[in-house]
Amino acid sequence: MGSYLEDTNKAVTTERLREMKSQRRKICCITAYDALFARIFEEAGVDLILVGDSLANVIQGKETTLSVTMEEMIYHTKAVVSGAQRPLIVADMPFMSYQISADEALRNAGRLLKETGCDAVKLEGCTPQILTAVKNMTSVGIPVIGHLGLTPQSINKFGTYKARGKDKAEAEAIFDSAMKLEDAGAFAIVLEKIPADLGKKISENLSIPTIGIGAGKYCDGQILVCTDMLGVSVDFRPRFVRRYAELYDVIKNAVEQYAKDVIGEDFPTDKESY
Ligand code: KIV
Repeated sequence: MGSYLEDTNKAVTTERLREMKSQRRKICCITAYDALFARIFEEAGVDLILVGDSLANVIQGKETTLSVTMEEMIYHTKAVVSGAQRPLIVADMPFMSYQISADEALRNAGRLLKETGCDAVKLEGCTPQILTAVKNMTSVGIPVIGHLGLTPQSINKFGTYKARGKDKAEAEAIFDSAMKLEDAGAFAIVLEKIPADLGKKISENLSIPTIGIGAGKYCDGQILVCTDMLGVSVDFRPRFVRRYAELYDVIKNAVEQYAKDVIGEDFPTDKESY
């Protein structure tokens, strides 16, 4: 297993993620939306950065992820790619960029790789058409991550962001979908907000890694939305998020002090002037 920083100089590949699973070395993933944070996360030793369509919530202040466009994903993914070299960088495919037809899915996945320099794409769900899209992408060399359980792009179908797979039928459907995505060529699967024992069963039965978010400790890796775990977002506190910092308070206090200093004419001093 070794230290989590054992091989920070080597670029992470999809193959390396598979190796980590077989070596039982947990995979550390986080979201980022710009070069500034991507650089910090790379230096902190993360393996994978996801440019999530959660940028709708985090950056754009939207309630759902549905409005994110290809252009917005391309813009943010380019910024992240500029900030980090070692982690595997994955771009989310926006809602309706892959559901209309397998051809359109392939074209849009290709755009994400060609125009941003990212390493892979992620898409949600497991309809027959999505499985075809995953097969097509994989066959032309576009690595794909699946996303099952709570799939935020389906919020209008679910009507809630509650945990999925709690009843037997839904748990079985999620398990079957995971198997199908692996067969179609996905190189990893994000499992969001499902019971830990279902996360365990899927992780044990797949040869590709599972990346959990609210899916328990048995997943092969974990991912968190950066602003949640850094405590920048105040109102969103689901139990699966561990807050490693309280940056909302740090930033607010710093800016309050700055405002006081400017208004009180304490900033800038002569030392801070030319
Ligand atoms: O968009 C996103 O940030 C995601 C994570 C929650 C996995 O899909």
